[in-house]
Amino acid sequence: MVSKVVIPVAGFGTRMLPASKSIPKEMLPVVDRPAIQYVVDEAIRAGLTEIILVTHAAKGAIENYFDGHPELEAQLKAKGKTTLLEQVSRPLPDGVQVISVRQGPPLGLGHAVHAARQVVGGEPFVVILPDVLVDAGDGAEDLSTMIERFQASGRAQIMVEPVPEERVEQYGIAALDGAAPAAGESAPMRAVVEKPKPADAPSNLSVVGRYVLPGAVMDLLAETAPGAGGEIQLTDAIAALIERETVEAYAMRGQTFDCGSKAGYLEAILHYALKHPELADATRALLRRYQD
Ligand code: G1P
Repeated sequence: MVSKVVIPVAGFGTRMLPASKSIPKEMLPVVDRPAIQYVVDEAIRAGLTEIILVTHAAKGAIENYFDGHPELEAQLKAKGKTTLLEQVSRPLPDGVQVISVRQGPPLGLGHAVHAARQVVGGEPFVVILPDVLVDAGDGAEDLSTMIERFQASGRAQIMVEPVPEERVEQYGIAALDGAAPAAGESAPMRAVVEKPKPADAPSNLSVVGRYVLPGAVMDLLAETAPGAGGEIQLTDAIAALIERETVEAYAMRGQTFDCGSKAGYLEAILHYALKHPELADATRALLRRYQD
């Protein structure tokens, strides 16, 4: 059973400054809850129970959010605000725990994931990049499908989606032997390369920020030298894994929102506000008013 998820949250979120100067970018609200709540909920819906935050001293607000708040809870109880009380006192269901480890120096995504090595303890694990929110709409959830597929085949699953050619430089890019798999399907990867120039990119299939990986990736990360941008890249450890065993690209079905960028964050707010039972009508009215 895959039960552990590593969520790297130590980064400073420079693309979201000044908002992220003294508030972790993961705590910026998307409608009425912090962005991190969306990805933790996604992990819980996929059956993951050990949520490992790889964090930094400046980002304690994230750990506090997932902890109890006895004074606030007592006040809400005294005032009979039961719905709010339920929301703040149970950010996590029973049986789910948040564990945090520190990254230390910011040496790259691969380095951040490796900081969780002792807690992961050689087991298979999931990595979720919290900047990217994924909405499955009415369909099955991509992360759940990826975990099922890993459990059935033992093959690592790397979620991918096509991006316009001029943006391949911003992502890990997968190379496949044949055509891209249909949405919701997986296909073996031949290689993966971090932030290639458009001319060198083997495809336009970008790595989206959801990975199901065997425990051996931690050993590979320990040996991974700095790569693109001088950072230790998770992509490079996955490239090394491809040399040893079959790794699959999973073509996502859902929709993504990049909350690490201002435009993506704004789109996420609009998208989730239009789905919010209490705010959808008001949001639609606002959008009509601001249309021109
Ligand atoms: C990271 C990964 C990259 C992936 C991207 C998805 O890059 O290194 O492979 O495609 O996230 O958002 P970053 O955005 O941290 O530069």
